[in-house]
Amino acid sequence: MVGHISQRVMPIILQIIITFLAARSLAISSVPALIIVPDNSAANVEFFESERAQLSDEIIDAIAHSQDNSLLANLVAFDFNSTTVERNATSCKTYPGDASWPADSVWADFDALLGGGLLRTIPIASPCYDTKEWGPKNVTKCHNLTNSFRVFPTHENDPTSIMWPIFQGKTCMAKSTTSSNATCTLGSYPVHAVNVSSVAHIQLAVNLARNMNIRLVVKNTGHDYLGKSSGAGSLGIWTHNLKSITFFPELELDGYNGPAFKVGAGVTALELYRAAEANNVTVLGSIAPSVGFAGGYIQGGGHTPLSGLHGMAADAALAFQVVTADGKFVTASATSHTDLFWALRGGGGGTFGVVTSVVVKAFPQTDVTFSTWTLGNSTDGTQVVSRSNFLKAVRIFWEMFPVMTDARTYSFFFIFNTNGQLSFDMKTFFAPTHTEESLAALLKPFFDAVKDLNIPFTKPQKSTYHETFLPAYMQAWGRNEFPMGTATGLPGNRLIPKAMWTDPAKFEILWNRTVAHIEAGHHFGVYHQAPGNKQNADNAVSSAWRNAQAFFITKSPNFPEDATTAEIREANRVLLENNLQPWREITPASEGGGSYLNEAAVDEPNWKEDFYGEQYNRLLNTKKKVDPHSVFYATTGIGSDEWEIRGPDLGVTTQNGRLCRTGK
Ligand SMILES: Cc1cc2nc3c(=O)[nH]c(=O)nc-3n(C[C@H](O)[C@H](O)[C@H](O)COP(=O)(O)OP(=O)(O)OC[C@H]3O[C@@H](n4cnc5c(N)ncnc54)[C@H](O)[C@@H]3O)c2cc1C
Ligand SMILES: *[C@@H]1O[C@H](CO)[C@@H](O)[C@H](O)[C@H]1NC(C)=O
Ligand SMILES: *[C@@H]1O[C@H](CO)[C@@H](O)[C@H](O)[C@H]1NC(C)=O
Ligand SMILES: *[C@@H]1O[C@H](CO)[C@@H](O)[C@H](O)[C@H]1NC(C)=O
Ligand SMILES: *[C@@H]1O[C@H](CO)[C@@H](O)[C@H](O)[C@H]1NC(C)=O
Ligand SMILES: *[C@@H]1O[C@H](CO)[C@@H](O)[C@H](O)[C@H]1NC(C)=O
Ligand SMILES: *[C@@H]1O[C@H](CO)[C@@H](O)[C@H](O)[C@H]1NC(C)=O
Ligand SMILES: *[C@@H]1O[C@H](CO)[C@@H](O)[C@H](O)[C@H]1NC(C)=O
Ligand SMILES: *[C@@H]1O[C@H](CO)[C@@H](O)[C@H](O)[C@H]1NC(C)=O
Ligand SMILES: *[C@@H]1O[C@H](CO)[C@@H](O)[C@H](O)[C@H]1NC(C)=O
Repeated sequence: MVGHISQRVMPIILQIIITFLAARSLAISSVPALIIVPDNSAANVEFFESERAQLSDEIIDAIAHSQDNSLLANLVAFDFNSTTVERNATSCKTYPGDASWPADSVWADFDALLGGGLLRTIPIASPCYDTKEWGPKNVTKCHNLTNSFRVFPTHENDPTSIMWPIFQGKTCMAKSTTSSNATCTLGSYPVHAVNVSSVAHIQLAVNLARNMNIRLVVKNTGHDYLGKSSGAGSLGIWTHNLKSITFFPELELDGYNGPAFKVGAGVTALELYRAAEANNVTVLGSIAPSVGFAGGYIQGGGHTPLSGLHGMAADAALAFQVVTADGKFVTASATSHTDLFWALRGGGGGTFGVVTSVVVKAFPQTDVTFSTWTLGNSTDGTQVVSRSNFLKAVRIFWEMFPVMTDARTYSFFFIFNTNGQLSFDMKTFFAPTHTEESLAALLKPFFDAVKDLNIPFTKPQKSTYHETFLPAYMQAWGRNEFPMGTATGLPGNRLIPKAMWTDPAKFEILWNRTVAHIEAGHHFGVYHQAPGNKQNADNAVSSAWRNAQAFFITKSPNFPEDATTAEIREANRVLLENNLQPWREITPASEGGGSYLNEAAVDEPNWKEDFYGEQYNRLLNTKKKVDPHSVFYATTGIGSDEWEIRGPDLGVTTQNGRLCRTGK
């Protein structure tokens, strides 16, 4: 029955488009029926053009009453009429091949309603394969893709590709040398994706997915380290093209009075940093330039090189525009949909609604001193330091974490153990408000020790002063040399609370585990940072972040790109048991520790308390309230334990399989 819908939807589309065009030149107060003016307390923040084009009950009625399209109207309506469409009554989301999966004609009608915005997924690496669906192999294209697979724009600019193909299920890998029997299938890529350019697009997609029980996936840049922006048998919402940015030199909103930005869902950190610099202000964004700002980053909390000055990125959020699970477009702020507002600031992306924009505080411009160095045995063996002296210096640096965070600084470095040779590679010591002199004074105890202990520099310390944020940021991270596009390892992390420093006995335990981790040769990246709660925000940012004095990151042992399930399972086990368990033991959630949900091991066993801390119960209540029918699902997201992925076992949780309620 789903298949038999009239094809003649064009007149409606025309009408919608004409109305859209008319709406654009009008003030919000005088727009026609198409444009809903929500109960909008953020009224002094104008909608973006893309946000003015909204779906309304009037439009649904118009669809229903034109050309006998009542069934189509029902499929995308806000209120589902169960007498006209039957949902799959089983406990799973509808899946391609099911009788309840929409027929091609429904997708065609849906595409027409979107004005041509529906994309049928072509797996990014399909040119490397001969397939029935996507045509013959194209060696030129495949080579080009293979060469560019490790750089972010390849995935960011694709409607469904993600940066970590392991979570896609590795069903269509980019390889120039595929054997003739290698296959390419959709895996966890959405079946179709909506190329969003208006709120109406998102509303239509959310309504269709809810009404038809289709899995829904939101993809912005595809950076997510757990595979949350992918899902088999789904309809995708691709927010990449929502690129608008507006600067408000003096915004008054819910008690805030100062500079602010309104940022579209598709804007990346670097795009916002550039806009901030142009207006002589700063914003709280990520270290990687290509991370999306308003998507998973800010909704997951968002740590930032300026956290020592202003806290977490989510703490600066003043209001979100959101399409909720019921398809409605709302403002979430301190005075409107306040539970949703609370949850969107730290409770995780892809869980509570589809954000179309966020309004964030901007902060004064700041100068920054940026510094790097590398310590360890010289590569030619001429300068050597004993292990114990090397570790003595590292320990002094560890002891200085509280002093360094009190001085508003942030650093990111690695301790490498390469065949027993240790090195301390300071990638970025980022010191806002510091001059070269004040930074040198801050770090003097450490560099005095380095000198006394005769520790060789394999790269001398070099500090550079920048009068403003952007050039310092560009020097630190602008080259965007983050490895991505690989399927050769799995990430994990731990947030280490301040208590490990304030209590000397605990510090000894921390140091013991630190040395053990180094000596075991586990991958070891470290941030010193203590965002605390500098904006005094009441939001969902996890208690572990509030307590944090450091952020440790690690990864599983490397495995080959074509690793077997058994190899991946073993690497995942080593990550969870050998790398992470010693950290978990000494920093349990009950004592203020935790793990950052955005850079975590997808199979982190205590994810509820470790990712969400004290906020978990309130988040779960909010999820049940704002998404009672589980329209949104994100692995390890709030409420996700009610669901499981039923698909091929790859030794780690992937998104390649049917999404079903657990326990059946
Ligand atoms: C190289 C690298 C560097 C990083 N650096 C930092 C850092 O400095 N600080 C930090 O805190 N994190 C950092 N991260 C982690 C980053 O915050 C997360 O990967 C984050 O999920 C990325 O969000 P995205 O929207 O760009 O990615 P996506 O993978 O597209 O989306 C991530 C999640 O958010 C959801 N989502 C996306 N857009 C929306 C929307 N509009 N509405 C609702 N849900 C949405 C998706 O469904 C998914 O669940 C880094 C990650 C990488 C790979
Ligand atoms: C649902 O659809 C049927 C058939 O079109 C119609 O008779 C009925 O009135 C609708 N119910 C509601 C609540 O709109
Ligand atoms: C409903 O889903 C089940 C799997 O849970 C599937 O086997 C079945 O074919 C579906 N039924 C319909 C009518 O699509
Ligand atoms: C293969 O791709 C290249 C580059 O996109 C294109 O120029 C060429 O026409 C394609 N070849 C075939 C046989 O389709
Ligand atoms: C190769 O890939 C780049 C993007 O990485 C793209 O801009 C270019 O058009 C591609 N060239 C061919 C021949 O496909
Ligand atoms: C491909 O076919 C060859 C020969 O039949 C077989 O040995 C090999 O295992 C196959 N590879 C895969 C990935 O199925
Ligand atoms: C997506 O839509 C934008 C317009 O908003 C268009 O420029 C772009 O080409 C579309 N992308 C794809 C992949 O169709
Ligand atoms: C930029 O901002 C800083 C700090 O707020 C201020 O001191 C400076 O005068 C501003 N510069 C310009 C050019 O406006
Ligand atoms: C430096 O090399 C010597 C000799 O191989 C070794 O004993 C020592 O542990 C190394 N030091 C570090 C810090 O790795
Ligand atoms: C850590 O403590 C344990 C138990 O006291 C001890 O056996 C071990 O040697 C210590 N390890 C390190 C690296 O200090």
